[in-house]
Amino acid sequence: MSQETGLDTRFAFANVIAQEAGAMALDYFNRRETLVIETKRDLQDVVSVADRNVETFIRQRVAETFGADGFLGEEYGYQEGQSGFTWVVDPIDGTAPFVNGMATWCVSIAVLHRGVPVIGMINVPCDDELYAAAAGMGASLNGKSLSLDQSRTLQNAMTGIGCNTYVTPQRVGAIIAALLGKGGNFIRNGSGALMLAYVAAGRLVGYYEPHMRAWDCMAGYCLVKEAGGTHLAFPTEGEALLQGHPVLASNQTVYADLLAIHAD
Ligand code: IPD
Ligand code: CA
Ligand code: CA
Repeated sequence: MSQETGLDTRFAFANVIAQEAGAMALDYFNRRETLVIETKRDLQDVVSVADRNVETFIRQRVAETFGADGFLGEEYGYQEGQSGFTWVVDPIDGTAPFVNGMATWCVSIAVLHRGVPVIGMINVPCDDELYAAAAGMGASLNGKSLSLDQSRTLQNAMTGIGCNTYVTPQRVGAIIAALLGKGGNFIRNGSGALMLAYVAAGRLVGYYEPHMRAWDCMAGYCLVKEAGGTHLAFPTEGEALLQGHPVLASNQTVYADLLAIHAD
């Protein structure tokens, strides 16, 4: 894919809006005691005006510049496009850490081309970190190229595990037991998108969560793949794009091990 097909221009634009949206979200974070916190599916599923307004900002910026592109965002849903490109955005991933004053949240922006994630941009404002990847162009963290270390295993590295109330406590317990049984260990920081970026950066050897949505994982998937890792396919045809699916991304060295835990 090249300049003529629109990847380069969207990549440059995604970089700019990820930074603008990150600055806007950080401003809300720094005055979070003024935000009214609402709940969605359950008491753990929180949202505020910060999530909504950051998404609206990104939607408007994309619509002004790429009016024929589709857009899927967590807060305001799906609008189909005509160009073959679809922006998939989680304005704040890690809203629970965000509203509780922890730094592990991010703005996640992906672009799909005919269903395949070709751009992944994750901005982590509290850490001043911008993860960026585009298909065939590699992945980077603050401009420094990312490439996974083939010596990392489940045993000598940490694995991110995520969960939400779509998955039973028994299933989550079994996943963690299986990982510990293989000599691995788990970590969860409240932002699945950020933990996927950590896989791309080699900080985690893999990430697994049994049920996530496209806006949680598409940017991370592009980053992990471009850093040399691999991931499960996330179905993007028709309604499947709007539904939840298992998410697994890792260094190639542990993919079979994590797939076995997923299949158990
Ligand atoms: C959630 C986070 C969390 C993951 C959940 C997601 P949100 O997204 O990524 O780590 O375990 O499945 O829904 O609600 O903070 O955007
Ligand atoms: Ca999310
Ligand atoms: Ca979110």
